[in-house]
Amino acid sequence: MKKLILAFVFCVAAYYSTQAQNNIEKTNIGAIKTASVQTSDFTLGQNEFLLNGKPFLIRAGELHFPRIPRAYWDHRIKMLKAMGMNTVCIYLFWNLHEERMDSFDFSGQKDVAEFVRLIQANGMYCIVRPGPYACAEWDMGGLPWWLLKKKDVKVRSKDDPFFMERSGKYLKEVGKQLSSLQIQKGGSIIMVQVENEYGAFGKDGDYMEATRKNVLAAGFDRVQLMRCDWSSNFNNYQTAPSVAVTLNFGAGSDIDKQFELFKKLYPSAPLMCSEYWTGWFDNWGRPHETRSINSFIGSLKDMMERRISFSLYMAHGGTTFGQWGGANAPPYSPMVTSYDYDAPIDEQGRPTDKFFAVRDLLKNYLNPGEKIGVMPTALEVIEIPKITFIKSANLFENLPPAQKSKSIMPMEMFDQGWGRINYRTNLTASTVPRKLVITDVHDWASIFINGKLVGNIDRRRAENTVQIPPVSRDAVLDILVETTGRVNFGEAIIDRKGITQKVEIFEGDRSEELTEWSCYSFPVDYDFQSKMIFKNEHATGPAWHKANFKLSKTGDTYLDLSTWSKGMVWVNGHNIGRFWKIGPQQTMFVPGVWLKKGINEIIVLDLEVPIQSTMMGLKRPVVDKIVPDASLLVRKNGQKLDLSSVIPVLKGKFDDQKNWKDIMLKNITIGRYFCLEATTSQLDKDMTSAIAELQVMDAENHMISTQKWKVIYADSEEMTAANHAADRIYDNQESTFWQSQYIGGTVPHPHQVVIDLGAEYQIKGFRYLPRSDKNKSGMIKDYNIYISVSPFKM
Ligand code: GLA
Ligand code: CA
Repeated sequence: MKKLILAFVFCVAAYYSTQAQNNIEKTNIGAIKTASVQTSDFTLGQNEFLLNGKPFLIRAGELHFPRIPRAYWDHRIKMLKAMGMNTVCIYLFWNLHEERMDSFDFSGQKDVAEFVRLIQANGMYCIVRPGPYACAEWDMGGLPWWLLKKKDVKVRSKDDPFFMERSGKYLKEVGKQLSSLQIQKGGSIIMVQVENEYGAFGKDGDYMEATRKNVLAAGFDRVQLMRCDWSSNFNNYQTAPSVAVTLNFGAGSDIDKQFELFKKLYPSAPLMCSEYWTGWFDNWGRPHETRSINSFIGSLKDMMERRISFSLYMAHGGTTFGQWGGANAPPYSPMVTSYDYDAPIDEQGRPTDKFFAVRDLLKNYLNPGEKIGVMPTALEVIEIPKITFIKSANLFENLPPAQKSKSIMPMEMFDQGWGRINYRTNLTASTVPRKLVITDVHDWASIFINGKLVGNIDRRRAENTVQIPPVSRDAVLDILVETTGRVNFGEAIIDRKGITQKVEIFEGDRSEELTEWSCYSFPVDYDFQSKMIFKNEHATGPAWHKANFKLSKTGDTYLDLSTWSKGMVWVNGHNIGRFWKIGPQQTMFVPGVWLKKGINEIIVLDLEVPIQSTMMGLKRPVVDKIVPDASLLVRKNGQKLDLSSVIPVLKGKFDDQKNWKDIMLKNITIGRYFCLEATTSQLDKDMTSAIAELQVMDAENHMISTQKWKVIYADSEEMTAANHAADRIYDNQESTFWQSQYIGGTVPHPHQVVIDLGAEYQIKGFRYLPRSDKNKSGMIKDYNIYISVSPFKM
């Protein structure tokens, strides 16, 4: 028998590519060791994935178990199967399992092994993406905050032995949970991903190799490994040939274009889109994101016709409960709590029109012997009549013990991971107004003098200053800082919270750095909130508000927070996440399994004062109601850019190809303000302009860091149909773009954006990426570039 297996294996091996051979050899060893047990295998064949030697098209959907209450795990897996999936793709978030260094938790809601066993029990396969970095709009992309206690920490890098040691240790713990569930050992895990989209961050193949070795050492030594990147950056680094290379891209992509280079470099590899973005995530203060069914289904069909495996990111997004939401940058844009994602299965687990469109398509492309699953019964939804809050606990009357510090420090240094922190010190008397400058607020601060609010600072708008009125005697200064998500993507991922550097007070030009701080930490766990002293009154400043409500039956519901300001909510001890009046999310999902018949408790921490301290439970969510605030449009009413007295440094014409274009100026030009002006579009009748990404090159051929960039003018931004804000030009996301208005009438050419680069540079050229989906609307043809050391006239 053994000989037969060997002979078969070697025949196959001779036929398949080198990549496949590595795996076949692994199979061989596996087969010998476990010949008596029933084992399966999953390998790379000639342009096909092979399940037990037979071609297998992966139709996966992504689910994040921490974003789904445990009691609903099975329901969501069954929904995926009913949509036509045969595989579930999952992330693990390191920071969820190791909230405190060296204390690992894989129990209850964090029991990933149970989740993977449920997948298998439902007759599906599993792809595991353990990180150590994940992204996923999750706090710090899944990296633990306590890494930031090390002042010079480097993440996603081999250059920091601390990071490598800690991430290796974490992966070992994951191995203890999941390595026995590899398909070769009788489990359902067909692939394990190494890192995540590393090509969008670095070029160090050695780091990826070291991380691959850590994954192997964790016990994932039989299963097929993979990695994922974008078509524009997957070749930025190399990995061991046995690692399958896959690509990520969004709804409406041009499939042939996406795989063009890949096919040249890996002619015999199977093709997979490991994240096909079904929708997109939402940021506070920005329009709700959707992706149309047509464009989404169109490219999915293109993949099916070409036998390209895929994973839908997200198939069902769920909810980023608690403090776990992340942020993108630049500019700093924190994530809302709902992770509905405009996915085919909505936040509450219901099928949407997109779901049925997927199912109708996929039933035509099943692997031999496969059947689409049966839809599980829908979960109950309930309404909750108006709850009135009468008890509150004033934040400043409930200060925890202070920690003293001479100079100011971020909250990590006080051993605090999330939540709020209040910094208190004394101000000397002054008869004139002064300016308080904070470098930097992460992420939103309320400034009080003797308990009276004098202003707010919002990191999203790169603010750092408030006016301080004259004070007659020594005054108490309180800076209450509220944190939103840690940056989960790109260069800005080292994102300490609270106040990161210093606080200065300016009288005219004279400045003084403030010291001798008392610091008060307000963590996010329920125990802490429950200990506040509540009184029967409405607090008039930052406070906790508490109410009980009675239910005769339980069910999923959406709490309407639209009369509240900014903060966090706990229901029966569960932290259900952040809210913020600016939207677009106005309701918060509460799973029925966290409610009970009889008395329930709800605590709201509001950092401002609610318009009305009442709340209702709704049957449907409101995730698309934006309350326009100053951050929404960059052009002020009536403002107009005047370029009449400046001469363009370049007049050019873009081609109509959807790729990055490198453009050199005739002469190196010194400047801080960069203006791209579009005068015509590629499509005849199109009046709009769109740009996906822009980078500027200095005299040494380096791309200037975009971290300090700010759009100071855009003649028009489409903010109704979607988030096509001008700052989409440098958010490092190739699938997002600025587009001038097209809903309710277009604005005529020319279209202009002006970026403040943050400092003067010697500019040699720039790189430009047009919108990169199939749609050509907004692609620029004729353009002018203006560069100036001082702001343009407007
Ligand atoms: C990338 C990442 C994912 C997620 C998506 C956007 O593809 O790999 O983790 O952040 O972007 O939703
Ligand atoms: Ca972009």
